[in-house]
Amino acid sequence: MANRAIIVQAGGGYEKVTVGVSEPSNPRKGEISVRLHANSLNYHDFAVVSGMWGPVEPRIPMADGAGEVVAIGEGVSEFCVGDRVVSTFFPTWQSGEPLVEGFATVPGDGVDGYAREMVTTNAAAFTHAPIGWTHAESSTLTTAALTAWRSLMADDALKAGDTVLVQGTGGVSIFALQFAKMAGAKVIATSSSDAKLERLRAMGADHTLNYNTIPEWGNVVRELTEGRGVDHVVEVGGPATLNQSMIAARVGGHISLIGILTGLGGDISIVTALIKQLRLQGVLVGNRAHQQDMIRAINFNGMRPVIDSCFPLEGIVDAFRYQESNRHFGKICLEM
Ligand SMILES: NC(=O)c1ccc[n+]([C@@H]2O[C@H](COP(=O)([O-])OP(=O)(O)OC[C@H]3O[C@@H](n4cnc5c(N)ncnc54)[C@H](OP(=O)(O)O)[C@@H]3O)[C@@H](O)[C@H]2O)c1
Repeated sequence: MANRAIIVQAGGGYEKVTVGVSEPSNPRKGEISVRLHANSLNYHDFAVVSGMWGPVEPRIPMADGAGEVVAIGEGVSEFCVGDRVVSTFFPTWQSGEPLVEGFATVPGDGVDGYAREMVTTNAAAFTHAPIGWTHAESSTLTTAALTAWRSLMADDALKAGDTVLVQGTGGVSIFALQFAKMAGAKVIATSSSDAKLERLRAMGADHTLNYNTIPEWGNVVRELTEGRGVDHVVEVGGPATLNQSMIAARVGGHISLIGILTGLGGDISIVTALIKQLRLQGVLVGNRAHQQDMIRAINFNGMRPVIDSCFPLEGIVDAFRYQESNRHFGKICLEM
């Protein structure tokens, strides 16, 4: 079948995932056509596909797409045919302060995404991919990597010698570990699995903690920093982890509110935030300029992403079921 696409019918749910066709138009002024070769999975894509936040109309899912430019429209000077590219999360947020609320403009949610073999779209919806990376590797950057990068490098510039706390071994947290080590920071990492903690140490984590066996890990983290607390928390757990994160943070520390793995809301100790003068910052991925900065750093430092496994495009439901099992370490990809 030519130019296959995954289509999630209105409302979402695994039983509503079908394989269809999406024929691209010829690129018009300012557009490029990209032959896509890979996607990577995120919790947000899971919410769309599984029906947790199913689409209101039939939707091609997946925000993260990587591939090769096969045609360019008039006026496009940034890309050439043959360039390897990776999608951006917010095609309309190019740089500067946040301009967007929610997911109305996000591929795979408010508009069609990249679980398809061909797309024609605005050139600004893509950036160049890192040099020498496979398409699957590049596809890991759009959501998870950019969220980690923005949290640590843009919202609160990380300094060598700072301490960063990362939670669990999903995509965002592994990238945060890698960027923190790239910048010369100390990393304290948590996981529910001792085997995964060993892998985190092999990747450079300076201290590791099992959050199941040490549920009150906030004070343990403080002890690991001689009582000072960590400078940055990459907070992906949500309500069940935020209070411990606030205990773990230093006075004036920065907490990036990123994830909702344990729910959408809950009891939060506001007084802890007040007396410690914490800076809690909501994060929704990042802009295109952040992505270009991140890729420049990746190229210079020779970093590679951690890919747990790849599934074929039509195995998308199996891939999300695997993600739900939490057995993965790093990113799960689809390849076409
Ligand atoms: N705001 C944003 O811009 C943004 C962007 C990307 C992702 N997110 C959110 O961030 C979260 C993580 O995303 P992801 O793509 O990295 O997910 P993922 O790859 O599916 O990561 C899941 C991992 O999180 C860990 N985990 C689960 N419960 C935990 C807990 N109570 N404490 C600590 N770790 C826990 C587990 O690690 P172990 O198996 O090691 O325990 C699990 O393997 C999701 O809620 C997602 O929606 C937000």
